[in-house]
Amino acid sequence: MEPEASPRRTWSREEIQRLGYRVVDLIAEHLSTMPHQPVFRSFPPDLARNFLTGSAPVAGEEATSVLEQFEAQVAPFPFGNGHPRFWGWVNSPPTVIGVLAEALAAAMNPSCAGGNHAAIYVEHQVLNWFRQVLGFPPESMGLLVSGGSMANLIALAVARHVKAGVDVRAAGVQGGGPRLVLYVGEEGHSCLRKAVELLGIGSDNIRTIPADRRFRMRVPELEAAIRRDLQAGHRPLAVAASAGTVNTGAIDPLAEIAAVCRHYGLWFHVDGSYGAAAVLAESYRAELEPLGLADSVALDPHKWLYVPVEAGLTMIRDGAAMRDTFSLVPSYLRTDGSSTGVGGPTWFSEFGVQQTRGFRALKVWMALKHHGLEGYARSIEEDVTLARHLADRVEAAPDLELAAPQSLSIVCFRYAPASLGDDADRLAALNRSLLEEVQLGGQAFLSSTVLNGHFVLRACFVNPRTSREDVDFLVDLVRATGARLVREI
Ligand SMILES: Cc1ncc(COP(=O)(O)O)c(C=O)c1O
Repeated sequence: MEPEASPRRTWSREEIQRLGYRVVDLIAEHLSTMPHQPVFRSFPPDLARNFLTGSAPVAGEEATSVLEQFEAQVAPFPFGNGHPRFWGWVNSPPTVIGVLAEALAAAMNPSCAGGNHAAIYVEHQVLNWFRQVLGFPPESMGLLVSGGSMANLIALAVARHVKAGVDVRAAGVQGGGPRLVLYVGEEGHSCLRKAVELLGIGSDNIRTIPADRRFRMRVPELEAAIRRDLQAGHRPLAVAASAGTVNTGAIDPLAEIAAVCRHYGLWFHVDGSYGAAAVLAESYRAELEPLGLADSVALDPHKWLYVPVEAGLTMIRDGAAMRDTFSLVPSYLRTDGSSTGVGGPTWFSEFGVQQTRGFRALKVWMALKHHGLEGYARSIEEDVTLARHLADRVEAAPDLELAAPQSLSIVCFRYAPASLGDDADRLAALNRSLLEEVQLGGQAFLSSTVLNGHFVLRACFVNPRTSREDVDFLVDLVRATGARLVREI
């Protein structure tokens, strides 16, 4: 008989259950005790050394021993998201059904390149739901991908294919035609630039459009930049707008940008990786409804829909163009989209980069069914309300300063006591120290950014477990820490 650790061993149902119940216990322990643990604990240096330099395991060991090591060495040092007082970056806690869906999807372990099996239909259904959420037509097509970076890359690849004016699949971007140019807001996420670089267009050919006082793209400047490029004989390709910038949650004027794109024949892309989900919430529905005018949208279920990472979504209005961008299957081999036979509906591998694809649709499908659009609408609304509460508390505090208008669920602010006046360097140094103290203190977690040249603290609300009391706690903590640091200086 094969030893327990051998990959060639067949596990009995009872053995799988025994191990599985342990895993479920660990999950339950982690998720239920996390709110009472420090938000963040540094990884112990000796353990870090061990992980960074240890050699590969030669002899296998029993699964329970591996789980014990997980319990001792991995579980106690989480990233921190999931804690009600974690406000860093855009990292939500995982919804419980999504956590369990990951295991179910792995147990089935299909490749979702295509075929006529359940996982394919689950993904098609998820895409259909998002078509409805975003107001996209039936001929649109989408894909679940790893996250916002990949969703934006896929969308801009389709834009390049459609708008380059040459066959970029054959000639690349070296065809000697006019210079391809993209327009990105000053506050656009860095992954947009990464996409432009990867697509061979080159970041020199990004026109960075300045932001207004609310950190939204200035449309007159966008239009002026397009005109300048046209006059210079360049080829304006696409505008990448943001529906919820990562810094401040600003939403670019989508309808106006759509009109400019229509007028000049540009591709209109919206990076809604963080914010597009707020179209479900009453207070942002009108502002985000023009998402339905876009040629492509990126939206991350692993951000504001609380689906465990990785889960990004790209949605392209012209599904046929998406297929033409990526398909390497000769037309005579293309499936016809029927649901009979082993071919099944159109193959996802024709619409993106990956051939073998994971069953990430299951966690999105389960989470959406479980919470419903209504449940999400309420939860997102609550996140926004809490952000507003923080902004109000900041405005009311004499030693805190709001650094940007609160938008969606992001609040940027800094500790700025009157005693420091406008001494920019000292304020920046003070807030840097304050941030580090708060993060390492383990009672709350913020991240930071730079706005108008000032270092500021940043809180993003994407956690259904966060309460008003947590927000009040944060305000008191920041003020007390700031006051102490000023005294120490
Ligand atoms: C607005 C925005 N776009 C794109 C991204 C990149 O998404 P991901 O980290 O999932 O690749 C982020 C990440 O926070 C984001 O906030």
